[in-house]
Amino acid sequence: MAVERTLSIIKPDAVAKNVIGQIYTRFENAGLKIVAAQMRHLNRAEAEGFYAVHKARPFFKDLVDFMISGPVMIQVLEGENAVLKHRDLMGATDPKKADKGTIRADFADSIDANAVHGSDSAENAATEIAYFFATKNIHSR
Ligand code: PPS
Repeated sequence: MAVERTLSIIKPDAVAKNVIGQIYTRFENAGLKIVAAQMRHLNRAEAEGFYAVHKARPFFKDLVDFMISGPVMIQVLEGENAVLKHRDLMGATDPKKADKGTIRADFADSIDANAVHGSDSAENAATEIAYFFATKNIHSR
């Protein structure tokens, strides 16, 4: 199976709950390596640029407002089948629908404040990773 990379963001609600370490442990236990990381408090332009694909969606402003409400922890995860593996760990977008034991079921409060973001394809992962990280700052192991 191919070694892939995916972009993960621990959102402001989960950072505020002080569960970065618990979420990182889940990544590592699933065989995903953290090969780059940065804590950032995004500004509006940065968040709007990241979510540009959702610009026409009714929740776009709420999503951007939430993502700039506090610091986020952004990381590149690397491993076999990383995109899907990470999506499985996160659980469904709406925490009410997320499987038991997933990050969103355990740490998210609502569809607006849903704890984590993960790329939905290898192609989008490459774009999202490049949005936040220069290649020289990704330390493949
Ligand atoms: S996904 O994860 O892309 O398949 O889900 P999707 O439903 O397309 O949602 C895209 C992102 O928008 C967030 N979202 C919302 N934010 C605020 N309010 C509402 N109602 C809402 N619905 C969806 C969702 O969490 C996705 O953000 P990311 O950061 O990609 O998880």
